[in-house]
Amino acid sequence: MDRRAFLRGVSTLTIVSTSSSGWLAYDYDLVNPNDGPAYQPWKDWQDHTANSPADAPLAGPLTLVRAAILAASPHNTQPWRFKVSESSIELILDRSRFVGDLDPYLREEAIGMGCALENLLLAAPANGYTATVTLFPAQLTQNTPEAASKFETVARVHLTPVLTPALTPAPRQASDLYRAIPNRHTNRHPYDPQQPLPQAFLDELAHLPHPDEDARIFLFTDPTQRRKIVDISALANQTLYSDPRIESASQSWLRLSRRDVRLHQDGIDIDAFGLSPAMTTLANLLPTSTLRNMVDKGQKEGYAERMFAAPLIGILGVRNRYDRAQCLLAGRLWQRAHLLATARGHAARPCSEAIELIDYERLQNRPPVTLDQLGHITGAPDWQPIFLFLMGHASHTAGPGPRRGVRAVLDA
Ligand SMILES: Cc1cc2nc3c(=O)[nH]c(=O)nc-3n(C[C@H](O)[C@H](O)[C@H](O)COP(=O)(O)O)c2cc1C
Repeated sequence: MDRRAFLRGVSTLTIVSTSSSGWLAYDYDLVNPNDGPAYQPWKDWQDHTANSPADAPLAGPLTLVRAAILAASPHNTQPWRFKVSESSIELILDRSRFVGDLDPYLREEAIGMGCALENLLLAAPANGYTATVTLFPAQLTQNTPEAASKFETVARVHLTPVLTPALTPAPRQASDLYRAIPNRHTNRHPYDPQQPLPQAFLDELAHLPHPDEDARIFLFTDPTQRRKIVDISALANQTLYSDPRIESASQSWLRLSRRDVRLHQDGIDIDAFGLSPAMTTLANLLPTSTLRNMVDKGQKEGYAERMFAAPLIGILGVRNRYDRAQCLLAGRLWQRAHLLATARGHAARPCSEAIELIDYERLQNRPPVTLDQLGHITGAPDWQPIFLFLMGHASHTAGPGPRRGVRAVLDA
């Protein structure tokens, strides 16, 4: 199912008042919707940052993992595991946690690993460590059932405590991006087409990739260019979600009941769908079977206009989108970009269909039509598009999504 179509289905439904006990007995906690263990990692992190003055003693490498698990990941799959010692943290990709045919090469999961890596690296100096990264190179291949049971170390972070000449812990260095970690949430509410982003922010964003990095960021504010990208994305949305295997892979990461959220602590919950607060409350009261029917109904409406409303569309490009290290780099860049937007008070969300269609065409041995079209728009066909996003001002703020806690993601 298309996550966005889900919203449209819900928002156009006339909800009829009923005394059916089935509805009222639904296990949604209306008083504290973002409460419970699935949201605890956000609260733990807020407590940690609130109670960590610049001269606090070293909290240990596990603290950095607490930051890493708050990162973005495709469909909130959280494909990570971490092996932690006093002096290093290994980031391990769990190949079973992927969105099936929507991400057949685990390209998006590798990007998610990059997002986690970025949070971890931002947390290092802010918690008294110098961090250096070793990436383990690999070419992405199609995930087979056998490969899906495997774990792969994708990066190792070496940690050294930062000390003063007197060998006491040096003052912490918390950046704006680090401080934004607990407030960064993907925002799927409607964006205001009348509110452009300030030029100063666009300049900051444009300079985000380090000149030595094998990554580029392309920004589009011009309506003609944005319209072209939206048209490609809308067609991609239609093509991908007409394939029942993609539909069902996507659905398997939706958490349409509080019970599922509690059980899995991952995936996309109803609160993340960008409904108005009243509609969110109503949607949370409905049985999941009703919600699924509504999703089907709203499948293809309104996608393009919603996307076009955002005043900025961005594309990240790398040299080789199937080189795992470059996927991690793209993930680090997206995480930085979203944290920057958060720090400056702007909303952001990925919009991946056009990018996913490139994988789909490759998988089906079709000509790389979408890759070429996007290359034409960026004007730099040597930089392969690997990530697409929207930024702007949204009608509502977004809240935290579920997370598995640190214990659940530690490797023995
Ligand atoms: C590689 C990648 C692709 C994503 N694609 C989409 C997308 O197409 N649409 C969308 O709404 N969110 C997308 N997301 C956002 C994730 O769904 C989101 O990060 C996840 O649900 C966790 O929520 P959070 O970012 O609010 O912490 C993507 C994230 C990543 C890392």
